[in-house]
Amino acid sequence: MKKLDIVALCGSLRKNSLNLMALNLAREALAEHADVELLQWRHLPPLDADLMASGLPGEVLELADRIAAADGIVIASPEYNFSIPGMFKNAIDWLSRCERQPFSGKPVAILSASPGFLGGARMQYDLRKVLLYVNADTLVKPEVFIGGANAKFDEQGRCTDEATQKNVRAQMEALVASIAAARR
Ligand code: FNR
Repeated sequence: MKKLDIVALCGSLRKNSLNLMALNLAREALAEHADVELLQWRHLPPLDADLMASGLPGEVLELADRIAAADGIVIASPEYNFSIPGMFKNAIDWLSRCERQPFSGKPVAILSASPGFLGGARMQYDLRKVLLYVNADTLVKPEVFIGGANAKFDEQGRCTDEATQKNVRAQMEALVASIAAARR
C-alpha cells in the first residue's frame, strides 16, 4: 500500500534540539506507514501586516502548499516561558493568513520535550488553542510530554527511554488511525 505523506515541524531551531530528537523518534515509529519530511520555517520574515498587505511572501505560500498537500502533521516544540516559542508562533501566524488554510482538517499530533519535569506541557495547551483557530484536527490522546528529556536521548540523539518510545509509538499509531478516519 502507498505510504502516507506526513510533514514534521520542529518548534526549535537548535541543531541539537531535544524536540528534533523526539521528531526523529516519531519518524521511526511511523516508518512502516509513512514518509516523514521535516519542513523548515527559519527563513520566514517577522510578520508585519504592512508586508502582508502587499501579498503573502512566496516562502510562506510554498510552506503552506507543502503542508496542505500532506496527509498529516507532527509537531514537536519546546516550551519557552510557559508557551509557544515566539519564532515558531510567527511561522504559524503567517500560515494562518493563507487563502487555502494549510492546517484545516489536517490530523496533527503534538509532542514536546524539555529538560524540565513537565516536558513542555504548558506549551502544548497554548499550541492546541492556536491549532483550534486554524481548524486543525488535533489528536487528543495519547499526549506526549517528554520530561527530563536530556537524560532520555543519547549522544547520537537516539531515545534510550523505553516508556517514551512506547508512548510515541502509541501516539503515531493514533495519528495514522486519525488520518485513515479522515479519509473515510
Ligand atoms: C526555556 N526552557 C523552558 N523549559 C520549560 O520546560 N519551560 C519553560 O517555560 C522554558 N522556558 C524557556 C525559555 C527560553 C527562552 C529558553 C531558551 C528555554 C528550556 C527549554 O525547554 C530547553 O532549552 C530545551 O532544550 C529547548 O528545546 P530544544 O531546543 O532542545 O528542542
